[in-house]
Amino acid sequence: MKRAITPGTFDPITSGHLDIITRAAQLVDEVIVGVAPSSRKNPLFSLEERVALVEQATAHLPNVSVHPFDGLLVDFAARMGADVVIKGLRAITDFEYEFQMTALNYQLDRSMETIFIMSPPDYMYLSSSIVREIASLHGDVTGFVPDCVADALRAKFA
Ligand code: PNS
Repeated sequence: MKRAITPGTFDPITSGHLDIITRAAQLVDEVIVGVAPSSRKNPLFSLEERVALVEQATAHLPNVSVHPFDGLLVDFAARMGADVVIKGLRAITDFEYEFQMTALNYQLDRSMETIFIMSPPDYMYLSSSIVREIASLHGDVTGFVPDCVADALRAKFA
């Protein structure tokens, strides 16, 4: 049985994240979405809110579960019995950071493999920070995020 982790801050989960999680769920038996506190990023949504939104957005995917995690990704993956991390890769700006993370994670735990799924063109430039900015300026985020997230953003910036 292949179990994968899809980690992130998910502040908030976007349609791009959901696309990657959905495609990961078709590749492995079980996907665990790991939601990191990422306190240094001063998230808009609390960890509990972000977990709840990812749960709502992925409720239709039977082999996906959502867990908050603190500490190192490699330790979380080992605790959850996962040996694969699946991440999305957008336009080239992601590459340098992801390359560094993958190399360091590999050095920390050589049994953990990282696999990247390319974002489709529609979501290539979509990010949680852009979504937060559009919502904060009362723009329409329909299509950029799952409906439950659009509602939560409207409530946040009402
Ligand atoms: O959505 P993000 O903010 O790009 O996600 C980043 C995340 C949470 C995947 C990354 O910061 C992470 O793996 N954090 C856990 C701590 C860790 O293992 N750091 C890497 C050491 S090389």
